[in-house]
Amino acid sequence: MTRADTGTRGVTVRVPAKVNVQLAVGAARPDGFHDLANVFLAVGLYDEVTAAPADELTITCSGPDAAQVPLDRGNLAARAALALAERYGIEPAVHLHIAKDIPVAGGMAGGSADGAAALLACDALWSTGASREELLEICAELGSDVPFSLIGGAALGTGRGELLTPVATGGTFHWVFALADGGLSTPVVFGEFDRLTAGTDLPVPAAAPALLDALASGDPAALAKTLSNDLQAAALSLRPSLAATLAAGTGAGALGALVSGSGPTTAFLVPDESTAHRVAAALTASGTCRTARTALSPAAGATVV
Ligand code: C5P
Repeated sequence: MTRADTGTRGVTVRVPAKVNVQLAVGAARPDGFHDLANVFLAVGLYDEVTAAPADELTITCSGPDAAQVPLDRGNLAARAALALAERYGIEPAVHLHIAKDIPVAGGMAGGSADGAAALLACDALWSTGASREELLEICAELGSDVPFSLIGGAALGTGRGELLTPVATGGTFHWVFALADGGLSTPVVFGEFDRLTAGTDLPVPAAAPALLDALASGDPAALAKTLSNDLQAAALSLRPSLAATLAAGTGAGALGALVSGSGPTTAFLVPDESTAHRVAAALTASGTCRTARTALSPAAGATVV
């Protein structure tokens, strides 16, 4: 695509959701964040963000959950465009359209995904020539999960989750996601974690070697045994009905189940595609979730399409 073409038609970036196969949470830091050992896996549920020239910064959103997406300058996609424009002295005269398929406020980094996608789309639209490192730096300023949305695949996030080391995966993992009615606020879930763990001596978070081995081997049964999420108790405390969703998926044949990130989406690891469809149908029929989706991992990070 030539630069002129890009300017006329806009640039579209496809970006995946994520699930945390391990989310180890340490004590709250003086800056209010928590140190994490966060093993991210990008999954094949996607948003698409299109950046096109406009008179001023505007955002629109389409998709089943579009009504829940804020269209002001607090949206991470808008913040990404503003951050890039400011850094390069560019007028942020861009229209961003988000075609949303990732659950909103679901613990699958949908907002972060839109931030990473908007950054990449604006970067291509404006031909800034920013390096990958610069883009990752802006992502980290936007939010703890945004850098991972840019790189995708599988990675260990340390610090508050923004310092990434790629992790090897040895095959394709099949997942089912049960979508809940309404979202959960990430800060509220971390606050509940603090309340539940008050007075306990939390270990320094670290990636579990058995989990990294399971990812590298591509063995879903081994991965299922090592799935863990330190925010799960907090999410269940705020949303007790999620226990029934987890039980419904496990009862239908999932190898392992956990709350995705800060929830309320629940994630079910299954051995193959036919089990994925069976578990998704059982979850939907159980009445314990709004709907169920199947997806594969790992998925590529934000990509211009
Ligand atoms: O980084 P991000 O903006 O996504 O974080 C949202 C909120 O989640 C933070 O304001 C904080 O309350 C909580 N958080 C945390 N520790 C992290 C990441 C997020 O406490 N490592």
